[in-house]
Amino acid sequence: MTKDDVFEALRNVNYPGFTKNIVTFGFVKTIEIDGDKVTVNVDITSSADEVKAQMIKEIEVELKKIGFTDITTNINAPKPPREQSNSTTGKNIAPHVKNFLMVSSGKGGVGKSTASVNLAIAMAMQGKKVGLLDADIYGPNIPRMMGIADQKPEIQGNKVVPFKAYGVEIMSMGSLMEPGQSLIWRGSMIIKAIEQFLRDILWSELDVLVIDMPPGTGDAQLTLAQSVPVTAGITVTTPQEVSLDDSRRSLDMFQKLHIPTAGVIENMSGFICPGDGEEYDIFGMGTSQAVADEYDTELLARIPIEPEVRVGGDTGMPVTYHKPDSTTAQRFQEAASKTIAFIDKINEEGGASNEAIQPTTPPGVSACSTR
Ligand SMILES: Nc1ncnc2c1ncn2[C@@H]1O[C@H](COP(=O)(O)OP(=O)(O)OP(=O)(O)O)[C@@H](O)[C@H]1O
Ligand SMILES: [Mg+2]
Repeated sequence: MTKDDVFEALRNVNYPGFTKNIVTFGFVKTIEIDGDKVTVNVDITSSADEVKAQMIKEIEVELKKIGFTDITTNINAPKPPREQSNSTTGKNIAPHVKNFLMVSSGKGGVGKSTASVNLAIAMAMQGKKVGLLDADIYGPNIPRMMGIADQKPEIQGNKVVPFKAYGVEIMSMGSLMEPGQSLIWRGSMIIKAIEQFLRDILWSELDVLVIDMPPGTGDAQLTLAQSVPVTAGITVTTPQEVSLDDSRRSLDMFQKLHIPTAGVIENMSGFICPGDGEEYDIFGMGTSQAVADEYDTELLARIPIEPEVRVGGDTGMPVTYHKPDSTTAQRFQEAASKTIAFIDKINEEGGASNEAIQPTTPPGVSACSTR
């Protein structure tokens, strides 16, 4: 039996759904024959499992007819398109932004804004073009944390120019309202505000837009996921069980919204004693590794309680920029590198599959020597 015989036999196999056969289509790439054993390598354009299964079956039938007993068909199909968070709507209202990173948490006050600010700055320091959107409509803290609280927005046409600090473009509801002013938000107003933040801000061609979310799983999260294809999600948690419970809700939300999970940031994980520079256990340490495992994602960083982090937030001088040698800054840099790698992988593979989990070893616990 020759390769020509095999090609001839395969002319009886139509490409599923078409009247043309797979040889005429040019899908049969190579054939290897070894006695009554044959291997057929086929490239097809559909990634649908039914198409592959039907072709394998029909190829087997035709090659058995001409005497082969051992038939292997390798089908090379394109990867299915990434299941995007907006797959139901197909919308992307900010197409000039390459990637959207949602920073979320189940619980309030765990350090989402701190993480968003420092991750955005770390990514910018690593050469990315980064934007930071404060989507916490109720409690916008980004302007203070980025040191732009006194700046007034500039309008161009009917769009707003983002602020810039530490190499990061920024927009926040806090910059559009008077200081101390509160707004009572209805769900529909939140939806409109998030949409406007994506559509009516003059963001540059950004590599990544880091989005600081309000706590929980509500209208803001859903609107974001329905307005743009969210590339990756990060959940911020503190180590206590009550916080971990809430972080599970946040990770579950990513899954429900088809947002690939980049990982978990465990904040307030141990305390760096300013006196001796040692790390001490306060709320627990490393506990979120188990939650990351449960959701098949990784622990991106353990950020200790460091007084400088709070001061950096309050004074608009984030540690990642102003104290680059601090433990926190270095861990945010590491988390940023891992996140960039995850985003690259999502884009390359066209599919979401999270990195293997790196176990962390919490350092020993002993008394703080100075206070
Ligand atoms: N690792 C840390 N060390 C010291 N202080 C921290 C640390 N992380 C956060 N903080 C401080 O804790 C407070 C709450 O943090 P942050 O505002 O980032 O939380 P959040 O999750 O964004 O809160 P909200 O749910 O209200 O938006 C801030 O004053 C911040 O500076
Ligand atoms: Mg916040």
